[in-house]
Amino acid sequence: MSKLNVIKRRVQLFLARPAVRTASERGNRAVLGVLTANRVTATIGFWLSPFGFNRERYAVLTGKAAYHRNQRRPAATSPRLRRNVHRLEKALIMEPRRPVFALDYIEETVEAFEAYQRDPAAIDPSLARWSEDVLRAYFDAVEQDDHLAALHDRFLVAAGDRDPGLALEMDHSPFQRKQSPELSVSYDALLELAMRRRSVRWFEDKPVPRELVDQALMVGRQSPSACNRQPFEYRIFDDPELVKRVASLPFGAAGYSQNIQTVVVMVGKQDNFFSARDRHVPYIDAALSAMAFMFALETLDLASSVINWPDFEPLERKMAKAIGLEPYERVIFLMAVGYPRSDGGVPYSAKKSLDFLRSYNVAPPSPT
Ligand SMILES: Cc1cc2nc3c(=O)[nH]c(=O)nc-3n(C[C@H](O)[C@H](O)[C@H](O)COP(=O)(O)O)c2cc1C
Repeated sequence: MSKLNVIKRRVQLFLARPAVRTASERGNRAVLGVLTANRVTATIGFWLSPFGFNRERYAVLTGKAAYHRNQRRPAATSPRLRRNVHRLEKALIMEPRRPVFALDYIEETVEAFEAYQRDPAAIDPSLARWSEDVLRAYFDAVEQDDHLAALHDRFLVAAGDRDPGLALEMDHSPFQRKQSPELSVSYDALLELAMRRRSVRWFEDKPVPRELVDQALMVGRQSPSACNRQPFEYRIFDDPELVKRVASLPFGAAGYSQNIQTVVVMVGKQDNFFSARDRHVPYIDAALSAMAFMFALETLDLASSVINWPDFEPLERKMAKAIGLEPYERVIFLMAVGYPRSDGGVPYSAKKSLDFLRSYNVAPPSPT
């Protein structure tokens, strides 16, 4: 054993001693007790560790700046257009529906639609189609005065002549639940899938076909997201050199990163938001999507494991350099994907019993 490893081992054994652990616990309790006395002391606590939340704050602010900057760029208006089209859809399905609605944001929505249409090269066809269909439904539904009629004309000019092929497809505007396709997946089948999926860390030495990843993404992309903004990106690496570069970064894949075939870096994008109050949304939305993606991988004989990405400055810097990240792009987690090695060990990872997972109607008595 090398000298360094001997020292490391001694330090580990020292830190594991009951007396050392007790002293460390006491110290933590004392300091945290003081810092959490109230919000002022908690704020002081964060000042004492200025780097703790530094990158997160920078990401949120640069994201806001990028959001506003992008309003002037035709191709990049999608967060506002997405959110507004979503708001229109919700208003369209309200019961009862008001004869006039969305007056406070319809003009900026039409503007965003016009700007978006001006740059066909950068347009996401799915957003183009959805926004067009919803705006069409809006102008059909709303009682138009002169202002709305003028906006309607602007919309029709921007939309241009409709491709006759589109009329044959399902309209992308709100529909009734009864129009949803029949469900052929049973609860038992879904439970079986959930029980079968486990974090797999040992993979066959066999590349993952991109078509299968895309198939899984078709499921992942159907997940819910706040205001349908989908503020995240799957940054996928299957080039062995890049996989090595990226997968070797997180601490959590140490010991098995060398056998990862494809690695996904889930990146949250703070430039989708004009307000810091939405700063948690990318993490939530990305996680919801990733879960569906992982289930889909399982049905395609692939397996996966999430890899933790701590908010730790030295690692953040390395990752930003390795894959090229804007300051408002935040790594949420990584994911290893591959064909599971049949003889590879899989932790059982027992789940909580329902009684420890859920509660019903637990709340303080209502104030009188
Ligand atoms: C956010 C997150 C971070 C994780 N980080 C790691 C990690 O760094 N290394 C690892 O081997 N597994 C990691 N995992 C996998 C968990 O250990 C695993 O999901 C958990 O033990 C439950 O096991 P199961 O996925 O097989 O049900 C992570 C999972 C999640 C959701």
